[in-house]
Amino acid sequence: MSDTEAGNGRRSSLHGFWSSKLAFILAVTGSAVGLGNIWKFPYVAGENGGGAFVLIYLLCVFAIGLPIMMSETLLGRRGRRNPVASMALLGEEEGRGSWWQVVGFSGVLAGFFILSFYSVIAGWVFAYVGKSVSGAFVGADAAIVKDVFGGIAGSWVATAGWHTVFMLVTVVVVARGVERGLEQAVTLMVPALIGILLVLLGYSAATGEFEMGVRFLFEPDWSKVSGTTVLAALGQAFFTLSIGMGCVMAYGAYLPQETSIPATATAVVCADTAVAILSGLVIFPIVFANGLDPMAGPGLIFEALPLSFGNMAGGVVFGTLFFLLVGFAALTSAISLMEPAVAWWVESRGATRARASITIGLIIWALGFLSVFSFNLLADYTFLNGTFMDNFDYLTSNIMLPLGGLLITVFCGWFMSENSVTDELNVGTGRLYRTWRFLTRYIAPVAVIFVFLNAVGWLDWLSAAAA
Ligand code: TRP
Repeated sequence: MSDTEAGNGRRSSLHGFWSSKLAFILAVTGSAVGLGNIWKFPYVAGENGGGAFVLIYLLCVFAIGLPIMMSETLLGRRGRRNPVASMALLGEEEGRGSWWQVVGFSGVLAGFFILSFYSVIAGWVFAYVGKSVSGAFVGADAAIVKDVFGGIAGSWVATAGWHTVFMLVTVVVVARGVERGLEQAVTLMVPALIGILLVLLGYSAATGEFEMGVRFLFEPDWSKVSGTTVLAALGQAFFTLSIGMGCVMAYGAYLPQETSIPATATAVVCADTAVAILSGLVIFPIVFANGLDPMAGPGLIFEALPLSFGNMAGGVVFGTLFFLLVGFAALTSAISLMEPAVAWWVESRGATRARASITIGLIIWALGFLSVFSFNLLADYTFLNGTFMDNFDYLTSNIMLPLGGLLITVFCGWFMSENSVTDELNVGTGRLYRTWRFLTRYIAPVAVIFVFLNAVGWLDWLSAAAA
């Protein structure tokens, strides 16, 4: 852990280095795979009509998400600091001014907003571990699972309690800095999760409306696509990959110099996509077989999954194990959501990691009550896009993350000198580099801007004006 390890002559990071390329892949996979894949992907796909949304989402993941993930890692490793300081430093270094640190600040803020509702959903997952163990779902039908979900979500005390438990665990892990240990556990967790999803897939295929589910998920009905659908797909791509807020940048700061960024980013993106698609394939056949509503929203998986666990052989064991694994996946994502803020606080104010995580955790915990109440006391209080939680979700996924990602790719593609970029990417200047550069300079930023304009209806307006 010497200075020279940074390779580019920078001081080593305050927080050390990943011990290997694999450790970094595990950490970023731990961040990426989480509620976004298992909870959010199915419900957002359901709300947006399935097939066409899923295809646009896949396109966003590979054409926009992947190059942005590489750019974000690259910036983190070159800056070797927290996202705020890295962006300030690189902005100065490339002669573009330190105002680029707004990318870092907006990321810190987005992390607060996201974790505040993420923790509420993760709390329900913890609650469902208990429910599964106690056999609450055995033999359950649609009415019973809806009752169980309503009992937890409808009670602000229960939801707040589990939210508190989840935030406490997250803060303890971040404060003690034991993430590295958790990330090792990802080697077990992701395969185990995929294993259980495959078991569930078998169950869905045998007993659910499998064909209907597959068609819903992959058969595009382009008439259902509007500007907002495309924006939702883009937002989901950013959310599920953990990009656009400095999370990957913070982790990139601890990446050894010789590790290949394109290879690691590709591995992470593929693992993340596999988990999301598998979840969708598991959920929708059950939804259709049991007359659940694909548009059910945030409660979708909490109703659909217990139905299969409740009616399959060994369901208590599988159900318990599944919710434990999802809870764990949520935890490895939650710690990454706190990392930019904690690293920034520690580096800029000289606080200890423990102090920084407790302070930041308290703020996020308090903010989380707005999302807790969104399902009970304030369920009918809606504005802009719905409840408080709906608005936090929309503001972060659909606006803050794509904007952050846009600035990241524009900085990497247009404002960084070619020398700095090739130095970090370390793949020479051949085909791979030229592809990355093309995606980063043109495709990713133009696509993000296009999706924004399309969502607010300006493209329709322009084409009408031109006609
Ligand atoms: N990607 C995680 C998930 O799918 C959530 C997450 C972690 C995240 N860090 C992030 C989302 C940063 C956006 C930005 O569950």
